[in-house]
Order: sequence, then C-alpha cells, then structure tokens
Amino acid sequence: MNKNNISIVILAAGKGTRMKSNTPKVLHKICGKEMLYYSIREALKISDDVSVILGFESEKIKDSMLQHFNKYESDLNFFIQDLENYPGTGGALKSYTPKHNKILVLNGDMPLIQASELEEFLKQDSKITMSVINKPNTNGYGRVVIKNNEVQEIIEEKDANKEILSLSTLNAGIYCFNKEILDKYIPMLDNNNNQKEYYLTDVITLAKKDNVAIKPMFVEMQNYKGVNDKIDLSQAETIMCSRIKNKWLKEGVIMHLPDTIYIEDSVIFSGECIIESGVGIYGNSKIINSHIKQNSIIEDSIIEDSDIGPLAHIRPKCNIANTHIGNFVEVKKSELNGIKAGHLSYIGDSQIQEGSNVGAGFITCNYDGKSKHKTIIGKNVFIGSDVQAVAPLTIEDNSIIGAGSTIRSNVKSGELYLTKGEEIRKSGFFYKFFNKGE
Ligand code: UD1
Ligand code: CA
Repeated sequence: MNKNNISIVILAAGKGTRMKSNTPKVLHKICGKEMLYYSIREALKISDDVSVILGFESEKIKDSMLQHFNKYESDLNFFIQDLENYPGTGGALKSYTPKHNKILVLNGDMPLIQASELEEFLKQDSKITMSVINKPNTNGYGRVVIKNNEVQEIIEEKDANKEILSLSTLNAGIYCFNKEILDKYIPMLDNNNNQKEYYLTDVITLAKKDNVAIKPMFVEMQNYKGVNDKIDLSQAETIMCSRIKNKWLKEGVIMHLPDTIYIEDSVIFSGECIIESGVGIYGNSKIINSHIKQNSIIEDSIIEDSDIGPLAHIRPKCNIANTHIGNFVEVKKSELNGIKAGHLSYIGDSQIQEGSNVGAGFITCNYDGKSKHKTIIGKNVFIGSDVQAVAPLTIEDNSIIGAGSTIRSNVKSGELYLTKGEEIRKSGFFYKFFNKGE
C-alpha cells in the first residue's frame, strides 16, 4: 500500500466511562494488543502523517503506543486535548494541526477498521465524506439525517427525540474533511447540548447550513464497530480473533472447531500445524510444524516439530523442538530438544537435551523461596516417575534417576542416582488407628 497525501487523526482523549474501568478505554486489549494499536497500525499503512489526540492518561497511552511504533517516529505525532475547557470529539480537534489538505478523522475506539476501507474515503471528491451504517434498532450511535443522498445533520443519541431515535442510519465515526472545513468550523463549535461537549458532529450541521454537500459513505457494522463498553469489547475481540484465524487457515493451518480457539495478533505459524479445540496461543508465540492438542495453552514460546497436550500449559520463554509434551505438563522458561514428558510434570528454568525421558510426576524445584535456579539435563537421561530435582542442578548424559528420588546434587554421566526413604511398617496399624476390629 502506498502512503497518500492524507493526514489521519485518531481521537483517543476520552476516559471511556462506560467501560467501568481505571484503564483508559483505548488501552483495553483485544487479541493481545491495545485497541488503539490496531487503528494506528492501519493508519500508518496509508499515511505519513498520523496523529493521536490524547487527554486522559496521555503519558501512559503514549508510552504503550511507542513500544509498538517507535520506528515510525517521524510519521506518528501526539497532541494533547484541553479536556477541561474543550471536552468532546470536536474539542479534540482544537489542538490539532495536520500536514496535508485532506484529513481523515477516526474515533480511537474502532479497532476493527482496515487500511483498505480507509482508502475508500480518499476516492470520494466531496469536501466532507462521512461513514454511515444502516442498521435498525441499534443503540450507542449518533443518528444521521440523510435527504437526497446528502447528509443534513447528525444528532447524538442523548439529544435525540423518539422520531430521530427510530432512524436506522447511524454515524459510524469516520469522516474525511478538506482542511478548510475544519479550519472554518472547529472554532465555531459550541457546547450547547445535553452532554455540554463540543461535538465534532456539529461540524456537519454547520457546514450544511452553508450549503456544503456532505456525502454519506455506507459501510458495514462488522468493521466499523465502536467499542464503548465491555460487551462491545468482547464482540470486537470475537471479530478480530476470527480474522486472525481465517488468515492462518488460508495459510494452511488446520483448526478443529475454530470458534473455540483463541489466537493473539502476534502469533506466527509456519509449515503445517494442527490446532485442536479449546487451545489458546498468546503473545509472540511461534508454532512450526507442530500439533497442539485440545485445551492446551501456549504463551510467548516457540514450538517446533513437536506435539503438545491435551491440557498442557507452556508458559513464556520456552523453546521446544522435536518434543512430546503430554497432559498436565507445565513448562516455563525452558529449552527442550528431542525429549518426552508425557504426564503430570513441572519443568521450569530448565534445559533438557535429546533422547531424555521425563517420567510422570517429575518436578523441578526451581524456586528456593528467594531466587530461581536452573536445572540442566543432558542427553539420554532416563528420569523415573515422581522425581524432584532441587535446582541448581546438572544431570549429565546417559544417566538414570530412580523413581521417587529427590535429587539434591549433580549426577555424573553414566550413573544411576537413587534416593530411598526408610521403609516403615507397622503391622495391623490401620485397625488400631480407626478403632476397627480385624
Ligand atoms: C461518537 C459520535 C457518534 C458516533 C459514534 C460512533 C460524537 C459527538 N459522537 O459517539 O455520533 O455514532 O462516535 O462510534 O462525535 N474523544 C476524545 N476527546 C473527547 C471525547 C472523546 O478524544 O473529549 C475520543 C474518545 O477517546 C473516543 C472517540 O473520541 O475514542 C469517540 O468518543 P466516544 O465518547 O466514544 O463517542 P460516542 O459517544 O461513541
Ligand atoms: Ca464510541
């Protein structure tokens, strides 16, 4: 996609009261990334002048966006809205100066919008184009009065009477303005409405009075959904997640019951992978030629030529290759290469090499109450069932650990290591203890 001669401004200064949260609305995440991330990402695809208007928690929002976009420094700007004196979507533009003569205004709470749709606005030749959704019986949007295919007025839900509320033409929240329109009408806005805010939507009413033609562009709710509360947030995430899954299905990933699978935006698949139902894959995970079985969770890890689960938990910073991980196995910050851990284990801060077998109930005791320690296990090590490895610990190649052992010191290559508890037997103890006759 080419960058156009267009400035894009994203309104993100509001608190988002309807979210009922201390987190600013645009920092709520969908599929692992903040809502605002998606709008900026799409805007940067088509513009070299993207600005974000901030107000509530501005530093926090700016910092989190710069973590994603620091390399776009010259194309991404931040402006601060004077929320006290000029609240509202119109007030947001009072502090803003664009670089180009055409300006696309986006609400920051529309994470589902895509660059290809934004480009549609640029094809229109009117001084003002605005997005309109046609959907009856829908709340949460301004109503657009349209006559002869021209917008006459936008009336906010809170200011609307019954007749206006029954209109099915909704303001989707994206507008394309010629610069002269904003220069003229933004200073003329007032806050004479039920919310005592400066509405951007009043620019339309003012321009109409001067006989400016305002073109409605009809768009689909699916991509223009505004997120105002936690219901909207969950619905937007469902849509985003299915886009992510469809992308990978097209790339050749097999998914069983994809509606039950959760995959975050930054996950990458390569080669042929099978993902079973109920699986969640988070963060910067990379899955290569692997099979992730039912109800397993993978977080920020690389899985290559391996099968995981069912019901396994791979926590962040694992690098797992040529390995079989079975049910109820939890792995954290470990490098596993060519091993088998089939059942009921905790493997943390470890490195285990090829040919080694981890028996059921193996646990790395990696934490001593103060710090974490490493467990290094070499090649072809056979670890029996119910073994605890008290880290820091090294178990060298070709060794055997007997079942039920607690390993407290390093094991040398070729050794059998075994700890045995003392065997205690008391004949008939059961009957005495429970007062039962024999
Ligand atoms: C807005 C529109 C409404 C439209 C809807 C579409 C106005 C007055 N209303 O309503 O017609 O149907 O979007 O989703 O524009 N913001 C600021 N500064 C502020 C207030 C808000 O930057 O002072 C930002 C918010 O952070 C948000 C965006 O503007 O990202 C929209 O604000 P919001 O309060 O969600 O507007 P709606 O009530 O949804
Ligand atoms: Ca909104």
